[in-house]
Amino acid sequence: MCGIIGYIGTNENTEEIIINNLKKLEYRGYDSSGICLFDNDKFYIHKSLGEIKNLTKNLNIKIKSHCGIAHTRWATHGSVSLNNTHPHLSFDKAWCVVHNGIIENHLDLKKELLEKNIKLNGETDTEVVPNLLSLQSGTILEAINKTLKKLEGSFAFCILNKNEKDTLFLARKNSPLYVAKNSDEVLASSDPVCFGEKYEEYFSLPENTICVAKKDKITFYDFDLKQIKVKATKVTVFEKSATKGEYNYFAEKEIDEIPHVLNNIIKSYGSINYFDKIDYKFLHNINNIKLIGCGTAYHACLMGAKYIQEKTDLECSAHIASEFRYSKPHIDKNTLCIFCSQSGETADTLLCLKLAKQKKAKIISLVNVPYSSIARQSNILLPLCAGMEIAVISTKAYNAMLFVFYMLSLHMYNILKHKNIDVIKKLKRLQKVNFFYNINYIDDISNVVLKSEKIFFIGKGEDYVSAMEAGLKLKEITYINCVSLPSGELKHGTLSLVDNKSLVFVIATKKELLSKNLASASEIKSRGGNIILVTNLDINETSLKDVDFVYYFDKCCEDLASMISIIPFQMLAVKTCLKLGYSPDKPRNLAKSVTVE
Ligand code: F6R
Repeated sequence: MCGIIGYIGTNENTEEIIINNLKKLEYRGYDSSGICLFDNDKFYIHKSLGEIKNLTKNLNIKIKSHCGIAHTRWATHGSVSLNNTHPHLSFDKAWCVVHNGIIENHLDLKKELLEKNIKLNGETDTEVVPNLLSLQSGTILEAINKTLKKLEGSFAFCILNKNEKDTLFLARKNSPLYVAKNSDEVLASSDPVCFGEKYEEYFSLPENTICVAKKDKITFYDFDLKQIKVKATKVTVFEKSATKGEYNYFAEKEIDEIPHVLNNIIKSYGSINYFDKIDYKFLHNINNIKLIGCGTAYHACLMGAKYIQEKTDLECSAHIASEFRYSKPHIDKNTLCIFCSQSGETADTLLCLKLAKQKKAKIISLVNVPYSSIARQSNILLPLCAGMEIAVISTKAYNAMLFVFYMLSLHMYNILKHKNIDVIKKLKRLQKVNFFYNINYIDDISNVVLKSEKIFFIGKGEDYVSAMEAGLKLKEITYINCVSLPSGELKHGTLSLVDNKSLVFVIATKKELLSKNLASASEIKSRGGNIILVTNLDINETSLKDVDFVYYFDKCCEDLASMISIIPFQMLAVKTCLKLGYSPDKPRNLAKSVTVE
């Protein structure tokens, strides 16, 4: 998703500071970038397609500026082109704007501008904004406020006006934006990760707020231009943790961090009772539970629904957020909605949260980014404690989601069945397990993946969820098409695709379902398919007659296996991606934080 940087300083290396911070937003995904340096009433703009290194390669703005704005664009409205890349200037060159979000009524506004003979250069929704700003009367602040009132949709803006030296005008509605200040600098960003090095605290712009940031003062206004107070947030280790260390890629580092994530969760939930408010009063009237998320977080919801339904006997279902709102869901005060999101900014999930609130449902959220919109709007927040996740593919955050869902299911069991299981002790059993994948086997398996024409992932129950997540990981970063399905579904259609160029991963972590999985393996073998079984069960040789290779991961109690069985698949996707010469951190077309519907 788009990323915004705004900066005011005293040094002459403004350009370098802005670019370094823009690079910290690369993980969000983008396909072009641009910068505007502001000096002596003039805007010096430079734009480039592709990676930020293309922007810096040709950057030759020979001015000594103290102020500027920059942007990484992830194309939504209009193609990837220089005309569509931000920053955007007004027709009279008085205003310069970068934007994150979507102006939903941009077509009507474009018509209005055209009627005034103002022609736009590109196809973006954003370009209407600097032009509208130029048409407003009154002070700069009034012009901004009048313009914002015309906009429908979501926005975070960083705005410069040529008559107001060294001032950043910021505004936010439904898209996150943050600003920090120290003795002689101000930095605005779409992500507080930029504040980790130099700042002690930062401000998160509240909904419907304008901020006027100068070197010596930051002032906030609501959309009636009444000054408002905003509390500062301390910069924590979370914002400071975004470095690669000795790894070449964040994806590799983040998979290896999974055992630390487990330890963090155990430590954190051991010292603070996050389940405190989920008591009998909260739970006893609930008659159905809906878990809602997108992508990997949706897969975590599928798994969480299985954990919770088994422990509580309550009707429990998982939903894809982008579908949920349009499915006329039955939600009332007796519904518990559980939202799950790494970033806490996913627009589809956030909109479902708002719907659930309107319908008076009870709400719990599992979120990794502590300062995110979903985290701030949830009464009961269960933090994922996974630390900053930078690679676009979600890995450690997925495992964290499963750890926390598992604890939540046990906690609900305790409350509803009047039991007293030590929730943390139950999760602690995983600390004895060796999570590490066998890299040599994974290397060999990735060669088989690359040689196969068709790839399938199958499993039953929880293992089917892992099959879905394994397939998503492979697709995302290797661009190899694959199919995930329940083992028992194969013979109802997809088996027709299986031949001697097919590779089928069978995931099996439940003893009672093993024979069914092995029966599916026989069906595949009879059609010439190549089978890799991924398991941590003891299986006798004779039962394995149809299996070509068994990848064993470390033994643990059956109820814990589904939380770690994904790890070899996460690493398999990374290995295969690297062999193909792609970056596992920045897959094409994808963004880390999807802040548009
Ligand atoms: C997959 C992936 C995405 C996200 C999805 C939801 O690796 O990262 O599928 O899981 O976009 O994002 P969050 O969890 O931030 O709501």
